[in-house]
Amino acid sequence: MLIDVIAGARPNFMKIAPILHAMQARKDAGGPLRWRLVHTGQHYDPRMSGEFFEQLGIPAPDVNLGVGSGSQAEQTGAIMLGYEKLLLEHPSACCVVVGDVTSTMACAITAQKLHVPVAHVEGGIRSGDWTMPEEINRLATDAVSNWFFTTSEHANANLRRAGVGDERIFFVGNTMIDTLLANMARLRAPDFVGLLGLQAGAYFVTTLHRPANVDRADGFARLLQAIGAGARGLPVVFPVHPRTAKTLRALPGFPANIHLVDPQPYLEFNWLVKHAKCVITDSGGITEETTVMGVPCMTLRDNTERPETISIGTNELIGTDPAKLGPALDRLFDGEWKKGGIPQLWDGRAGERIVAQLERLLAGY
Ligand code: UD1
Repeated sequence: MLIDVIAGARPNFMKIAPILHAMQARKDAGGPLRWRLVHTGQHYDPRMSGEFFEQLGIPAPDVNLGVGSGSQAEQTGAIMLGYEKLLLEHPSACCVVVGDVTSTMACAITAQKLHVPVAHVEGGIRSGDWTMPEEINRLATDAVSNWFFTTSEHANANLRRAGVGDERIFFVGNTMIDTLLANMARLRAPDFVGLLGLQAGAYFVTTLHRPANVDRADGFARLLQAIGAGARGLPVVFPVHPRTAKTLRALPGFPANIHLVDPQPYLEFNWLVKHAKCVITDSGGITEETTVMGVPCMTLRDNTERPETISIGTNELIGTDPAKLGPALDRLFDGEWKKGGIPQLWDGRAGERIVAQLERLLAGY
């Protein structure tokens, strides 16, 4: 029984790793599933892709569609063409997609049109913000998925509201957290830690790459000013995503305590997060990791598809107005940030639960 596992962009890689490891363990124990790892090539820089495969023990992709950069439609079209050809020439019995990137949506639609059942890992989450391509990807992917492996009761409720029956919803936990817990003891300091004088609990980490924050130079400059000033002299480490680098080059300057570094590999990035005083980000996945590590997190967005990181975890929505950062940082420096807890089933075993369900579901298909 051959299953496709799809990965395309950086936030996919930590989500597929525990699924692949669990499938390997079941295969070794005589289980029926075999898999084909399909990398769409949406992210192709070694720093955005290859290093994650090496560090997380993900086997080399069986197929690389090599789509590369492009507009939303160009990437979607290229992935669909490549994956359709693959499925027609070499069929598979199921398509497993993770997360909310363009590759997720493009492969889910392509598979379902060829009557290949689709399982969506991290299905059901919603920000309600249709200006983000990820939200469109979530809606489109969930509309054509047969089975949903979910990370929270919020996701389950969203799916039920959309008319999905309980027999198709499997609340399994969070594969991104599986990877974090499995690698916690392996996290390691990047080599610039001494150079920048980073001390535990006395520096910030920031990541910004959403179009709303970084695509316009004036708004991005104001945001960086607010972050630099709000850190009150503490260093701010800023691993720069490729799309952010483009706007950064157009800025006249930014605060001296903000240190730009390359996109970090998984183990180094999460080491930085674990020891930070606070993370300021517009990412979704990072808010889950800060929640599990108990690190204060400020999200520079107006909405989130991961409300449990706020209601249970250490995350708070600040919005995209730089003026809102000051009061939040005051509370942080006054020691008033919430401590947070761990959401249900974020226990490191989601991958195993997914593979056990897939065996059961595909046996009856
Ligand atoms: C994508 C995902 C987003 C995720 C992010 C994490 C979608 C819609 N968005 O956004 O959910 O949080 O990845 O990284 O799928 N580029 C490189 N090298 C690479 C990859 C990209 O230089 O390896 C450049 C591209 O040329 C482009 C820019 O970065 O100019 C954006 O890349 P793209 O994959 O289109 O979207 P992301 O903004 O990375």
